[in-house]
Amino acid sequence: MRTGHSPGYLHLRAPGTSLVLDCAGSRLPRVLHWGDDLGDVEHTALAELATASAARQMSNTLDLPVPLSLLPEHSAGWLGTPGLTGHRDGADFSTAFTVRSIRTVRTPDLPQAHQLTVDAVDEHARLQLVLEIELTAAGLVRQRATVTNRDTGERPFVLDGLLLALPVPSHATELLDLTGRHARERSPQRHEFTLGTHLRENRRGRTGTDATLLHLAGEPGFGFRTGEVWAVHVAWSGNHRTLAERTPAGVSLLGAGETLLGGEVRLAGGESYTSPWIVGSYGHGLDELAGRFHQQLRARTRHPRRPRPVTLNTWEAVYFRHDLGRLSALADAAAEVGAERFVLDDGWFKGRRHDRAGLGDWYVDESVWPGGLGPLVDHVRSLGMEFGLWVEPEMVSPDSDLARAHPEWILATGDRLPPESRQQQVLDLGHAQAYDHVLERLDALVGEYAIDYLKWDHNRDLVEAGHSPTGAAGVHVQTAATYRLLDELRARHPGLEIESCSSGGGRIDLAILERTDRVWASDCIDALERQQIQRWTGLLLPPELLGAHVGSPVAHTTGRAHTLDFRAGTALFGHFGIEWDLTAADAGERARLAEWVAAYKELRPLLHSGTVVHGDHPDPALWVHGVVAADRSRALYALVQTATSVTSPAGPVRLPGLDADARYRIRPHRPGDRAEGPHRSDPLWWERADGVELTGRLLAVTGVRAPTLHPERLVLVEASRLGPAPAPAPAPAQRRT
Ligand code: DGJ
Repeated sequence: MRTGHSPGYLHLRAPGTSLVLDCAGSRLPRVLHWGDDLGDVEHTALAELATASAARQMSNTLDLPVPLSLLPEHSAGWLGTPGLTGHRDGADFSTAFTVRSIRTVRTPDLPQAHQLTVDAVDEHARLQLVLEIELTAAGLVRQRATVTNRDTGERPFVLDGLLLALPVPSHATELLDLTGRHARERSPQRHEFTLGTHLRENRRGRTGTDATLLHLAGEPGFGFRTGEVWAVHVAWSGNHRTLAERTPAGVSLLGAGETLLGGEVRLAGGESYTSPWIVGSYGHGLDELAGRFHQQLRARTRHPRRPRPVTLNTWEAVYFRHDLGRLSALADAAAEVGAERFVLDDGWFKGRRHDRAGLGDWYVDESVWPGGLGPLVDHVRSLGMEFGLWVEPEMVSPDSDLARAHPEWILATGDRLPPESRQQQVLDLGHAQAYDHVLERLDALVGEYAIDYLKWDHNRDLVEAGHSPTGAAGVHVQTAATYRLLDELRARHPGLEIESCSSGGGRIDLAILERTDRVWASDCIDALERQQIQRWTGLLLPPELLGAHVGSPVAHTTGRAHTLDFRAGTALFGHFGIEWDLTAADAGERARLAEWVAAYKELRPLLHSGTVVHGDHPDPALWVHGVVAADRSRALYALVQTATSVTSPAGPVRLPGLDADARYRIRPHRPGDRAEGPHRSDPLWWERADGVELTGRLLAVTGVRAPTLHPERLVLVEASRLGPAPAPAPAPAQRRT
């Protein structure tokens, strides 16, 4: 690595994207360009770009042009949402940081400087600011800020908020964000990027079932394959906000940060606050934008690399009806269809006969498990499966020995307890003894049973989450303590895998994913709902991190009935599992499920390493998605009929992402090859044993006719390249500089 100082203008590049920063002068850096790769640009041209794009004055505004810095400052004339808010006894409410140094770091694989650290100070407010900005090899812009109180006196600096911003161009006129609720997470909403602020603020004390994983702005009508699009994400599992802001001065930006509760961060002299990482992505279409997150996650040292095991989760199979005989029989049936991991869900610990008691008492309930969990664990292992266990460490039931012994360990403020949710309260991990107690219990359980996997749940929002005895707001501390707890447990048990579950998909973000191995995307395993939930959760996560289960024939959360093929073909595109009482399934269902399990095992190397693509089909009832191998030798697509189409048959479906010049054989893939449409009017190629042979270009541009499908059915289509890969097209000169 090499380091340098005072770079003036910086052009950071990764494949397909550029970030140009104006670091000239003493004010905080400004973004001159974030988006498409600009190619080689001379340093002098960057200075010209700065001149060309400099803000201009409007009538009846300040006498100086107002720049937008990464941390927007009121002192520079910025009248939109400020970057840093806070005060010292009411003073120092506005900052004017002066840059003291900028350190850039270069790495051999991306020779252009791609990390910088900006050290700035406001001598009057006695604050120091360190900004870290990076363009990763995957093309993500990561930034965070650390603010330090340099006052030697008595008065703390009360930090009310810290927001980092990235400008987007004026042709990004459409916004997309996600919302939802328990069992209906990740519903997209699209609207015009109008003047003003579109704010998504989350005060749930967890990431949230309604959280927008990304706040996106793009060209009008952008889709998965077309249109430029930009997005930001907050890597934080507590309160947070993202916003899209457009000002009358013609500035458009995406901003994000942690939401701080009143008095939550009070910095005494010498103390610091570090913001979460704010992560931005850019792409031509949502697939490219999402692909950068997938690539970044897959590059983690702890990214799960061994095949994702077929998982049997007991929740919807038995709920709280725990006994050794029933669960052993379920394990037998699971092993018979090919399951590789057996996860014992809620209901195993002391007093937990229903969801109104027991949380916090993390001891095996001997009235239900007289011999402990050992006999079940041994049985599961004898069948060749791993053993997993459900826990909800941050929670406490008022009806528990723990709450009776330590009422002061419940997060609360004033002279009252927060309203209960699922009859439970939140354990205050800000109490060292409460933290130690939970760590000791988890450590002991994982050690005693050599547990391979924890399903780590978190089933309520935090309300009035105050730390006793002061009652001060405790969400920030709680979030950081949860991270420490996870980190410590993983350090003690290096092979342990952990799933992030929070009433289903309530804790999905890049910070929790630094310490977990998959998420439970939703409590809803109705395959139709899952098509949507998985599609939009996939904006952030690659399929191997996304828990997806085959449920019972009638979905418990919606009452909808679906064929096994639709349920399994939906779960196939995640980390595949089963959540169904297989002891009640008939032999035919089990045999068919075993076929799907076998298909998943054969396909998972492709599905869990390839590039996720979507077809942007014009018929809203026909969804096309798939995964293309990294070397584009093979791909698997699902053609999903979500409802009846207005036209029948629907127009041809385009299969994107393949090598344009290579020839591919296109065939139905078993067991997802049963069209079962209303008229059996399958296209000719579908009926032929050797399918059809087309180039990647033809498949992406003209496509193939889909078989006629009943609503809520799907089929699988495989593309396999014929012959060797075509010679790569000559690389454009110096893609990276
Ligand atoms: C909520 C989870 O999302 C479910 O899968 C299940 O684990 C229940 N909690 C258990 O209480």
